[in-house]
Amino acid sequence: MNRYKKKVVLKKESEEFILPFIIPSKCKDLNAHFIENPPKRLDYSAIFGNTNPIEIEVGFGTGKFLTSAGKLFPAINYIGLEITRKMVQHVANQAHDGALSNVRVVLCDGRLYMKYVVPSESVSRVHVYFPDPWTKKRHLKRRVINQEFFDSAYSVLKDGAYLNLYTDHKEYFEYFLEQRNIFGRFKDTSDMGFYTPTGYEQKWTREGRDIYRAVLQK
Ligand SMILES: C[S@@+](CC[C@H](N)C(=O)[O-])C[C@H]1O[C@@H](n2cnc3c(N)ncnc32)[C@H](O)[C@@H]1O
Repeated sequence: MNRYKKKVVLKKESEEFILPFIIPSKCKDLNAHFIENPPKRLDYSAIFGNTNPIEIEVGFGTGKFLTSAGKLFPAINYIGLEITRKMVQHVANQAHDGALSNVRVVLCDGRLYMKYVVPSESVSRVHVYFPDPWTKKRHLKRRVINQEFFDSAYSVLKDGAYLNLYTDHKEYFEYFLEQRNIFGRFKDTSDMGFYTPTGYEQKWTREGRDIYRAVLQK
């Protein structure tokens, strides 16, 4: 869920920072749809004009991490996946204004995009920061993290590559560790790579909440 209040108008020139992802309207079973009609996997050279390492952020919100990282590391290509249109447009505007030619965003369910569009063994790090914990039983299926996500993340990561997950939510963190154990193929590491506090981390830190961090390695 995203509670960003400001109005966002996508500039025409920012559109090139958004990668397309077409979801059929009124489709009840998207997995079945994508199995029957597999989308084209990403061609990074065609998108970025280079073969630099790829990092993916799922649920980037206001895009603080994505745009900071994009600015600091021009030799890494960043792709942000976000389910809220407004945030995709906001960060596309920022990428345009900052001339961040190594940043792209996609309006999508990051779980589906990782599974059906990101090429296998192509990503150096997957970032998931402060995902919605969805604590009500009927909402659990909305959680980004589950066995299917671990499977997709493992599959798109190169050997030795990383999955970062940070949260302020103790119960979600415990659930994440439990899911990691069930999946059983990642190892723990302390190599968090570059990080800058996201919008939500800043908010939770101001409120004095604890932050839980896990970094897994393929
Ligand atoms: C609590 S916010 C955290 C935003 C940002 N990572 C931060 O730390 O400031 C969670 C974000 O994940 C997005 N989101 C939720 N489910 C998603 C999904 N399945 N795929 C992509 N983005 C998702 C929401 O729209 C929201 O922007």
